[in-house]
Amino acid sequence: GSASALPMPSSIETTNHAASTSTLTILYGSQTGNSKGVANNYKASALEQGYQANVVSMADYKPRQLKNETHLVVIVSTHGEGDAPDDAVELFEFLASKKAPKLPNLKFAVVGLGDTSYEFFCQTGKDFETRLLTLGATALVERLDCDVDYDSAVADWTTSLNAKLKDELTPVVTAQIINLTPAANAVAESLYSKKNPFVANLSAGLKITGRDSVKDIRHIEISLEDSGIVYKPGDALGVWFSNDEAVARRLLLATSTSAEDKVMVADLELTLLDALINKLELTLSYPGFVKSYQVTTGHAELATLMTDKAALREYLSVSQIVDIVEKYPTKIAAQALVDALRPIVPRLYSIASSQAEVEDEVHITVAHVEYEANGYTHQGGASGFLSTRLEEGDNLNVYVENNDNFRLPTDPNTPIIMIGPGTGIAPFRAFLQERDATEAEGKNWLFFGNPNFTQDFLYQTEWQRYLKSGLLSKISLAFSRDQATKIYVQDRLKENGKEVFEWLEQGAHVYICGDALRMAKDVESTLLALVAEHGDKTATQAKEYLTNLRKSKRYQKDVY
Ligand code: 2AM
Repeated sequence: GSASALPMPSSIETTNHAASTSTLTILYGSQTGNSKGVANNYKASALEQGYQANVVSMADYKPRQLKNETHLVVIVSTHGEGDAPDDAVELFEFLASKKAPKLPNLKFAVVGLGDTSYEFFCQTGKDFETRLLTLGATALVERLDCDVDYDSAVADWTTSLNAKLKDELTPVVTAQIINLTPAANAVAESLYSKKNPFVANLSAGLKITGRDSVKDIRHIEISLEDSGIVYKPGDALGVWFSNDEAVARRLLLATSTSAEDKVMVADLELTLLDALINKLELTLSYPGFVKSYQVTTGHAELATLMTDKAALREYLSVSQIVDIVEKYPTKIAAQALVDALRPIVPRLYSIASSQAEVEDEVHITVAHVEYEANGYTHQGGASGFLSTRLEEGDNLNVYVENNDNFRLPTDPNTPIIMIGPGTGIAPFRAFLQERDATEAEGKNWLFFGNPNFTQDFLYQTEWQRYLKSGLLSKISLAFSRDQATKIYVQDRLKENGKEVFEWLEQGAHVYICGDALRMAKDVESTLLALVAEHGDKTATQAKEYLTNLRKSKRYQKDVY
């Protein structure tokens, strides 16, 4: 029960009076819940102004409806190399096609969600804006490109859009609006959220790769006891974390600041050390930091580095904040250091358990990142926190992020194909626990890959048990480094192409979880190739076949 499932209003104003009573349509598209969250918040604010507003997922939106819209808000994230997220693809392609109508009566606002550490920052938002302008629509306010900590930027954007809409829309009586739009969301969603997380308890943390593994993957169990939190297989767990105190102290040293200096972070007065440990992002580096730090310190070398985008990206990919500051140490004011940093944002982990099996626990599968560089051991932010700084029995702040784009079929008899190498296995453990506990009859086929059989066969005994009980119909394994030439999950897919296609023809749903940049792309091209070969189709027909699977929610990805 989400707002996106609400029906569109039956009558939509198609005229374009200077001030009309039209409905504001808020479209969101993303793989994670962020754009949906922004959409719902904006809707709440629009309703407060007395406007009629509807939130619709791009995945559920009929592109032909566009010509009937007068006021449109587009909230969209960007994927991998500047690609539109799956939910947005159909609408985006429609806007670019010959079928797209001219939209001279449409006024719109675009919010792009992204991350400045990626090269194609907010590309999809930019592309949507370009398309809408090309079709003759008018921008209401300047496009907003959001970095990971977008709350205050979105708040400012909301204020300016609402101000602009005063000349555009006539408010209707608030009571009426409330009747028109039941707050389905408020009922269905948990009390706990990103802003108001639940204080949970770490019940277990276990390394599940072997001693000689090239990887360090942890199985983490967290108690949600007394929270009343309900999650579904496919959902993600948001985890707030704190930084390593040793890293914070190195920053103090390199900037000649002191632990007890008083600083302001988001209206709170804190000591600098507290702010560095608990409030500010110290692990991921990003161009915005280099820019602010350069402006504050005036380092000429950093200024030069910033003119070469490729070199900067290369440098940032191997540097944490502390590496940059230690390479360019300068005495600066405590507040200037704080202002150059961005707030910690929680990390999302695909949930690896089903409540039908584990009740008030939640499990996640975490790749612990640790490497030596510049004479120090470097760790990932949340993964270091979960794997080394937190002990069993300690508290941590968590919340559930719904992911309606990654769900088991509603029919328990529908077969599923799960492709999840590495930590991509996590949601499939949840799927299988759920199907086991609910005695779902559908066939289940798991594709898993990792470097070595003896070291990296995550949850091996569980799969063996499921194979024995018959829950798991088939498991196809790709241990990439156990032989001279690499074998990947897509090689196993290809070998089993005929049978995979048969499953598809029987109505199977296909899921991919894990690496977005290479794995998910390679798997997708393998799927296309096997559909073409075994379904006797041209490349174009195979593409259409996969598009149809995606539209009917039979092809879903949870990739990162
Ligand atoms: P490799 O590191 O030995 O190359 C989980 O990380 C598994 O995914 C590893 O076995 C890894 O292999 C493999 N992997 C790396 N690149 C991949 C790709 N493009 N497609 C599928 N699997 C890949």
